[in-house]
Amino acid sequence: MDRLTRVPGLLYGGDWNPEQWPEQVWAEDVKLMAEAGVNLVTVGVFSWARLQPDAESWDFGWLDRLLDLVHRHGVAVDLATATASPPAWLVRAHPELLPVTADGVRLEFGSRQHYCPSSPAYRQAAVRLTRALAERYRHHPALALWHIHNEYGDHVQECFCPASAADFRHWLRERHGGIEELNRSWGTAFWSQHYNSFEQIEPPRTAPGPVNPTQLLDWRRFCSDALLALHRAEKAVLDEVSPGVPVTTNFMSMLKALDYWEWSRHEDLVSDDAYPDPADPRAHVNAAMNYDLMRSLKGGRPWLLMEQAPSAVSWRPVNVPKRPGLHRLWSLQALARGADGVLHFQWRASVAGAEKFHSAMLPHRGTASRGWQDTLRLGTDLRRLGAIAGSRLRARAAVLLDWDSWWALELDDHPSARMRWLDLLRPWYAALYQRGVTVDFLPPGAEPDGYPLLLAPNLYLLDTATADRLTAYVRNGGRLVCGPFSGIVDRHDHIHPGGHPGPLRELLGIVVDEHWPIPDGETTGLALDTTGPASDATGLALDTTGPAPDATGLALDAVALGAERWSEWIETEGAAETLARYTSGPLAGRPAVTRNPLGAGSAWYLSAHLGADTGPVLDLALAEAGVGAELPGLPEGVEATRRHAADGSQYLFLLNHGPVERRVPLDTPGTGLLTATDLLTGTAPGDTLILAPLGAAVLRLPATEERA
Ligand code: GLA
Ligand code: GLA
Repeated sequence: MDRLTRVPGLLYGGDWNPEQWPEQVWAEDVKLMAEAGVNLVTVGVFSWARLQPDAESWDFGWLDRLLDLVHRHGVAVDLATATASPPAWLVRAHPELLPVTADGVRLEFGSRQHYCPSSPAYRQAAVRLTRALAERYRHHPALALWHIHNEYGDHVQECFCPASAADFRHWLRERHGGIEELNRSWGTAFWSQHYNSFEQIEPPRTAPGPVNPTQLLDWRRFCSDALLALHRAEKAVLDEVSPGVPVTTNFMSMLKALDYWEWSRHEDLVSDDAYPDPADPRAHVNAAMNYDLMRSLKGGRPWLLMEQAPSAVSWRPVNVPKRPGLHRLWSLQALARGADGVLHFQWRASVAGAEKFHSAMLPHRGTASRGWQDTLRLGTDLRRLGAIAGSRLRARAAVLLDWDSWWALELDDHPSARMRWLDLLRPWYAALYQRGVTVDFLPPGAEPDGYPLLLAPNLYLLDTATADRLTAYVRNGGRLVCGPFSGIVDRHDHIHPGGHPGPLRELLGIVVDEHWPIPDGETTGLALDTTGPASDATGLALDTTGPAPDATGLALDAVALGAERWSEWIETEGAAETLARYTSGPLAGRPAVTRNPLGAGSAWYLSAHLGADTGPVLDLALAEAGVGAELPGLPEGVEATRRHAADGSQYLFLLNHGPVERRVPLDTPGTGLLTATDLLTGTAPGDTLILAPLGAAVLRLPATEERA
């Protein structure tokens, strides 16, 4: 990472597409970049046709001049490999590289990402271009970072052409070994789908009825791997030709198509493109979730916000700009969640092409615009925050995320089509966010031991090894909270025999008799006993002064909750206790939320989708695990996170997402906040921090002996 760390402080800049402008404009660009404090620009993302005008000629002169120019102005370069948009001459020479849909439609040239991930012609040309760029610029002093391709899976995530079919068959051979292994895995005894050889297999093209679900699941896995193979081919060239320069590709937040756990193993630096919708009042909650994932992908290492819009985008049906202050706040939010820089799409607004209405750091109106003032101000803010670079968050709760399970969960012909991963995850995350609890994400294979609380909103697909790991975690004192429709299938998408939740049955202390999805628009009532678990395995003081339980064993003042989408007929086993029961519908009186004490820990089960009512259940688990808010007692709408530096100092971010002024008391004894300095203003707020609507502060707490 040496090259990038040579850029001091936080990274600031954006995509710069100078090939859209005459060279005289470049001089103004670099002057304004210096004025705004820009220190990193992404160059060349869509420059293939310009760099290689035809199969045998190259034109690097303009890029030589450009890199020299930015270097003279002290700006570093994130140099793209330019492979996301193959030029017309290549496409016409190899029409077979255009991608084909499941219906057999070949997608035309004229946009971008018009390539088949498995096309040998595309791959050879992309690798050749990458090598030419790497050989030419590996020693250029402006080069700080390589940017492979652009947003893999943005427009094209799969291709059904003959080359893809051949690649899929090859992938299946590697995975399954023999054809009878594949037949067993795919359950081809069903509907007479048996294959005699791999040659008989095709991608899951449009078929008369439901397609084999394991074929579809393997297809999802294959498609993520096929794009990753392309990425790895470019990465291998860069590692070979240009060692020591870090490499990234821009991710797209929580994207279903690509298993980012697997992808991030091949990144030197995780970078993300994020476009929260300014028209969505909850956009910052989803943004926080995505940023937490980006931070988690490499175990908490700082990541980079590669792209965000300075104001409006141009690809929604209605593109609302960011009201004054919002862009600054949302940029600070990325930093608050572990980013070491914020970049944009794009530097100078385009005058032609599909994105000419997309906002830019330098808008069409030029330096007289409000947007330019925002660009200047954010540059100033980032300079003031330079000291936070490299510092990290510390979470005490983690959420399990498994792409395999996500893909399997969303296959067709399930008890309910409403069980979608993001819809299940979001209310859990929102409840934690609202309570000020910082969370990491973990892959299913991770060792969760460092986290007192582990949350699994859904684990539809679960192998026994993961279940064993979760059991050991709980026995050792961990608290696991598991959501509905979990432990259902193995990695072949075959039902675990012997009753749901299969390998989680003993751990959770429940068995599911039948899934009971709730029709759209209906709600099922639940009563939650908030006096907490009856057995005090935790050593935490439980409130025994609450009201006496009624005949159902539930406290009389139980909290009423509502379930939507999903409920289950469950029965408790062993020592499991019932924390909530259904109070309406066909399951009235039956257990709904349970807790199973096991070893030194406990495993909790939510048999229903509680949506916006998930919070009260999580409160009980948080209390038992001893996990709390980053800063207790925060006013509504204020987000708080803390970054810890290697020298023991801390940076407390306080962000007011709400429309009204908020006052945050800083005089709580023992917090050290009374003497903290706000890096954004350079002043000490004293005993109360006043946050204007969309206001922010970054309080520096110097290292003390206890903290260091
Ligand atoms: C029809 C078909 C069966 C089965 C059932 C499922 O009756 O003939 O093969 O698919 O639907 O409801
Ligand atoms: C993505 C792409 C950019 C641009 C922006 C517009 O992030 O990577 O090339 O299209 O979207 O929002």
